[in-house]
Amino acid sequence: MQPSPTSDRRTPVFDHTVPPPGHPSASSRELREPPSGGPQVHHAPARVAGHRPEPSHGDPAAREPRVLAVVDGSDTADYVDAADYVAHTATLRGVIRQRLVTRALIGHLPPAPARLLDIGGGNGVQALEFARRGYNVTVCEPDPRMLAETRRGLADAPESVRRRVELVRGDGRDAVHLVGTGWDATFCHGVIMFVPEPAPLLNVLVELTRPGGIISVVGKNGPALALRAGLQGRWRDTTALLGEPRAVGAARPGRQPAVQLPPGDDPANVAAILTAAGTRSLAWYGIRTFTDHLGGIPPGSDVDAVVDAEWAAGARDPYRGIARLIHHVHRRTG
Ligand SMILES: C[S@@+](CC[C@H](N)C(=O)[O-])C[C@H]1O[C@@H](n2cnc3c(N)ncnc32)[C@H](O)[C@@H]1O
Repeated sequence: MQPSPTSDRRTPVFDHTVPPPGHPSASSRELREPPSGGPQVHHAPARVAGHRPEPSHGDPAAREPRVLAVVDGSDTADYVDAADYVAHTATLRGVIRQRLVTRALIGHLPPAPARLLDIGGGNGVQALEFARRGYNVTVCEPDPRMLAETRRGLADAPESVRRRVELVRGDGRDAVHLVGTGWDATFCHGVIMFVPEPAPLLNVLVELTRPGGIISVVGKNGPALALRAGLQGRWRDTTALLGEPRAVGAARPGRQPAVQLPPGDDPANVAAILTAAGTRSLAWYGIRTFTDHLGGIPPGSDVDAVVDAEWAAGARDPYRGIARLIHHVHRRTG
């Protein structure tokens, strides 16, 4: 899909490109070449962090001798605190997430050097990745522990990379005042699940980005959240997540109403807010179709093959529609 910037933000074209599964497939143009090099994870963790799924229900992670981190609870987000998130980025699930995001962005960003802004940049995985690729990256992040982790990662990087990264402490919703506007691309990955209402943050992302620039948002795929529980054999959780809270065998007068999604977990809602703010969707990708249920296992020697399989699935229906996370890539139109 080619960008078609317009100059009128007040008359957005509504482009609901993230509907439930069944939407037309991603075109082969959206299948981008992989980035060179492997995942950029600087702190191999030694501790087991966070909550583990119940091992008695056939959790594949429970059979693994080594678990790096399961930061998220059974069905919650991947971030409890900075140390846990750093550990999570070294797991197979964390590596898959970051590498798929990078690979997608490579196909949409203007060439380096360009000015990238990472809102809620966490421990700086994408900032470091793109600084290494010659981009100038500013991270706007409210958590000082996350900023400290990014500094730690930067300390290991060459001077040429370090000087391309700037760190700013603050809430993304205040970013216009903190870092100004006119960015060539604005990232906001895995953050909207932490704000009660996504629209103010998403509107700010569009405001921060120059006309024609790229907006990249990763959020949960609310309609498919039961998949992890099901693949882990957590059947009661699965049923509840499907909006069917009654126990097996109980009388069922009829189908229960669907689970009410938090607005930030509804990919169609996220895409609609971005579009209404003056963007159009370039592409959307699923992240972790095959690996989300694997808990905190580390990447194996086949990690490149796993990334390739996840990438292929994440760019086409029906697989991307059941992925754990959805990556939206939009262009500001005016
Ligand atoms: C799951 S981590 C994701 C980090 C990084 N974007 C990534 O994809 O690896 C969530 C991050 O969002 C940050 N965050 C939470 N609320 C925020 C807000 N209102 N504005 C900006 N960042 C926020 C947290 O401090 C944390 O670093």
